[in-house]
Amino acid sequence: MAHHNPWPDEGNTGHIWDEDIRELDNPPPLWWMLSFYAGFIMIIFYTLYYPVIPLTDKMGGFTKGLTDWTQINEYNDDYKVLKDWRVAKFADKEEKLASMSVADILKDDELKSYAVATSKMLFGDYCAACHGAGGAGNPNFPVLADDDWLWGGKANQIQASITNGRVGNMPARGMMGNLTDEDIDHVTDYVVALSEGKGNDAQYAAGKAVFAKGMCLACHGPTGKPLAPAGAANLTDQVWRFSSDREEIKNVITYGVNVKKNGEYIKGTRQAIMPAFKERLPNPEVNIKRLAVYVHELGGGQ
Ligand code: HEC
Ligand code: HEC
Repeated sequence: MAHHNPWPDEGNTGHIWDEDIRELDNPPPLWWMLSFYAGFIMIIFYTLYYPVIPLTDKMGGFTKGLTDWTQINEYNDDYKVLKDWRVAKFADKEEKLASMSVADILKDDELKSYAVATSKMLFGDYCAACHGAGGAGNPNFPVLADDDWLWGGKANQIQASITNGRVGNMPARGMMGNLTDEDIDHVTDYVVALSEGKGNDAQYAAGKAVFAKGMCLACHGPTGKPLAPAGAANLTDQVWRFSSDREEIKNVITYGVNVKKNGEYIKGTRQAIMPAFKERLPNPEVNIKRLAVYVHELGGGQ
């Protein structure tokens, strides 16, 4: 800063930097001043128009403004417009879903894609906790994205699984409950062999005999493949419903699935229950069909 002001008459404030950079005290331009005052006037209108001044709860919370405008009201109004638009746009498709059978929906490519697209959220909200994202399965909960079905992969079978739920039942220690520990060891070896395609090997003959004696074949079919889908697992593939571990397989054979005594699950039994969704889903008539189409299209529908 200089002590000496070489420009005494130009109205500078006497603040000088780097020898010749001066601070002047010219008035601001008119346009600037007008905007400045206009800003003050705006504040008055703004304050009257919008909710601006916070007040105590006793005094009504806050000033409401002349039009009762709030962000949330505006959001709700816009949302309603969007929702009405969607409902109107998709009304005919929703009506078709409501009136057509799942099998017929599957034959209509456009409707099928629509059902699949609108199922993803529903599946995430209501099914994925057990069946995994995209039906990929979780320990103890079946994969829905393959073609291995307990209860059938036809449209009406999938629809029935979702509507009424499913409870698979397998008795403990064979149908009569009288297989010995030795029998169980043999039949476990046989079941493991079945999954490896070696069920007919002579060394598993004892297990095969137990499979007949314990009436395993009544549910799992004479060759380990159920004759009709009624909840029993296919034992001839590598898809394990519970576990591929020999001990775990032996446990299933020993304690069964969903076995109860005096209304309580017996110790060691596998619990496997698909809940009924006819009363759990919003708008169940349409949403069950939508989900049935989705599950069918996950990859394994028949
Ligand atoms: C609380 C866990 C749970 C929820 C939630 C659940 N499931 Fe299941 N689901 C199961 C179990 C367990 C089974 C196997 C039942 C059995 O072992 O017989 C099953 C079986 C099924 C089957 C039959 C599979 C087959 O192989 O035949 C379908 C289809 C199915 N679920 C669809 C759904 C859909 C769609 C939803 C969502 C609306 C859903 N599930 C929600 C537990 C659940
Ligand atoms: C009343 C019908 C029934 C009988 C009898 C039956 N099972 Fe099962 N079995 C089932 C059902 C149902 C399941 C469970 C399917 C599910 O919930 O995923 C099952 C599951 C299994 C599993 C588990 C398969 C896997 O993928 O994890 C094995 C192993 C098995 N059974 C073997 C046997 C053997 C061995 C016998 C005879 C001692 C037998 N079952 C008798 C119905 C039966």
